[in-house]
Amino acid sequence: MGGKSMMNMAALMVLLGVTAVTAAMSNDYGDALTKSILFFEGQRSGKLPANQRMNWRKDSALRDGSDIGMNMVGGYYDAGDNVKFHFPMAFTTTLLAWSILEFGDSMGADLEHALEALRWGTDYFLKATSKPGMVVAQVGDPISDHICWERPEDMDTLRTTYVVNQTHPGSEVSAEIAAALAASSIVFNNKDRKYSMVLRLRAAQVFEFANNYQGSYNASIGRGACPFYCDFNGYHDELVWGAAWLYKATRVPQVLGLCCEEYSNSREAVFLISDGIQNRVGLTYLFLP
Ligand SMILES: *[C@@H]1O[C@H](CO)[C@@H](O)[C@H](O)[C@H]1NC(C)=O
Ligand SMILES: *[C@@H]1O[C@H](CO)[C@@H](O)[C@H](O)[C@H]1NC(C)=O
Repeated sequence: MGGKSMMNMAALMVLLGVTAVTAAMSNDYGDALTKSILFFEGQRSGKLPANQRMNWRKDSALRDGSDIGMNMVGGYYDAGDNVKFHFPMAFTTTLLAWSILEFGDSMGADLEHALEALRWGTDYFLKATSKPGMVVAQVGDPISDHICWERPEDMDTLRTTYVVNQTHPGSEVSAEIAAALAASSIVFNNKDRKYSMVLRLRAAQVFEFANNYQGSYNASIGRGACPFYCDFNGYHDELVWGAAWLYKATRVPQVLGLCCEEYSNSREAVFLISDGIQNRVGLTYLFLP
């Protein structure tokens, strides 16, 4: 970079800096929160309810799961495509639950919508985990999906259902779903006790599956997961994360033992700082006693 363009760059950065500061002062974070919760409605898959606010979105993917004789209607589409990737969907659900636990009291009228968004995720994960010994890890063939950009209401791409089971395990996706169910059970504890209990029991069952049959879904579902949501750093961090949320939901001391034994064994623990986004260990550290 030459001297002149350097100066132009410096001037530009000052300008941008000024603009950013002005913008920050006029940002309405309440509106940002409202819209980010509304965004979940745009990502909804399945049969949409009467109170759907983003009403240009219609029912879609009503036969999901039929290829394996299961009802997998519902859940969320990922990003701008029509695949239901349960690994990131579960992490999103967990963080939504955590946000409600921490900040729900300040959400005002959005709390109700945040709870609906959470339940849209957990209702779906109850379907994905309805058969013991297996977990539905994903719906939609990502290769077929990515070569054809269609809206979900019209899509004619392959809706393959991918599962992990005892012979082809997937500890990261299963433990992540267990975390989502456990965290959500805490949210619903004083709102819908029965639902909360269903979530908690299911979380325990799914965590046990994830922990007893350890392996990466990378290998088990192959091209369904990779190169889209490959598990780059192993599944131990999700086991720690799942155990930590399950402990928080159940307060069963043995579960904490599981978590922390896993924590100290976890080779990913060394990535605690350097790999904060991929790694759930760092996040777990934030709320464990
Ligand atoms: C277990 O999962 C693998 C990988 O998804 C699948 O090919 C296999 O059919 C499953 N086995 C059973 C018994 O469902
Ligand atoms: C998953 O696959 C990716 C890409 O091939 C690889 O880098 C990663 O190590 C694999 N992860 C596990 C846990 O096997």
